[in-house]
Amino acid sequence: MRVLGIETSCDETGIAIYDSTDGLLAEALFSQTETHARFGGVVPELASRDHIARSAPMLRQVVADAGLELGALDAIAYTAGPGLVGALMVGGSLAASLAFGLGIPALPIHHLEAHLLVARLEEDAPEFPFLALLVSGGHTLLVQVQGLGDYLTIGSTLDDAAGEAFDKVARLLSLPYPGGPALAELATVGDPAAYDFPRPMRGRGLDFSFSGLKTAVRLKLEKESSQAGSDESSGTLRANIAASFQAAVVDSLVEKSVRAMAETGLERLVVAGGVGANTELRSRLKAAGEQQGFGVYYPRPSFCTDNGVMIAYAGWCRRGTAKSGPPRIQARPRWPLDELTLSV
Ligand code: KG4
Ligand code: ZN
Repeated sequence: MRVLGIETSCDETGIAIYDSTDGLLAEALFSQTETHARFGGVVPELASRDHIARSAPMLRQVVADAGLELGALDAIAYTAGPGLVGALMVGGSLAASLAFGLGIPALPIHHLEAHLLVARLEEDAPEFPFLALLVSGGHTLLVQVQGLGDYLTIGSTLDDAAGEAFDKVARLLSLPYPGGPALAELATVGDPAAYDFPRPMRGRGLDFSFSGLKTAVRLKLEKESSQAGSDESSGTLRANIAASFQAAVVDSLVEKSVRAMAETGLERLVVAGGVGANTELRSRLKAAGEQQGFGVYYPRPSFCTDNGVMIAYAGWCRRGTAKSGPPRIQARPRWPLDELTLSV
């Protein structure tokens, strides 16, 4: 079975074809970073327009790269939420019209479910059940995954998401959008022990909080910047702040993940979402797993950030949920993961 996946929930257009026998056949990804960079964040209307311009040509290209005709597709999976409603509508319209024209099912996919399933596409695939640490620009969740469509959120952020905190602190440091990767890069030349930033909610429950940490960074930066005279000392200050902030976020994510593994008694931890591409987080969790005796699984970094592959693969996993009749366009900007069952 060949499933074409369409991701348009935010600022990446991702298209891919997953074949249940041969695996990933072709993929394309376009990131709108440049369009939004000068605004310091995603402008929803510009995101929708860009998805309109790019999605159909990219889709044709991916079908050609896979050496296929459109008629060789068996289903079209698309991100139905959560995300920006206009952006979701673009992918949904393309998916539904194509599916209607080809007489095949359109499968509405939950973006976060796709993030947490994609690790199973890797060679070292985690079996169910597992715990997922889902860390993206909009979400920070600890999810108990019993099986496909069986999700229980046991921890979440009370304020900012981890990726959002990275992006906001990156802005304070005048780093280019999107901030996470730029901040992680700057952190490699800084001292993570230079500043002892707070680890909010440490030792308490499974929820996260990052907004106090962000404020602590802002205050420290304001205070120290007024004293840092030369370009060199200001460069060192920024790198040290980046490294110390990253250490605080990673500490929180690792501490809660370890606690959740102990509380649930699960044996596998899956790290998913854009912040899952963070090298420091990956190595710290790996070490924690070795120490505590649980397995840690990551999708490759390009599968952590938004992409079409995870949507195509989730479509394959959800092939049994296809509805009969003409495809409807579904777009749910807000859509709690725990509402999912085996039928969307
Ligand atoms: O999953 P994703 O691509 O999009 C959402 O669904 O939100 O996650 C994007 C988030 C952004 O906040 C970005 O700054 C962050 O992931 N991110 C990172 C890294 N790569 C992406 N944060 C820290 N370190 C990274 N290497
Ligand atoms: Zn995402």
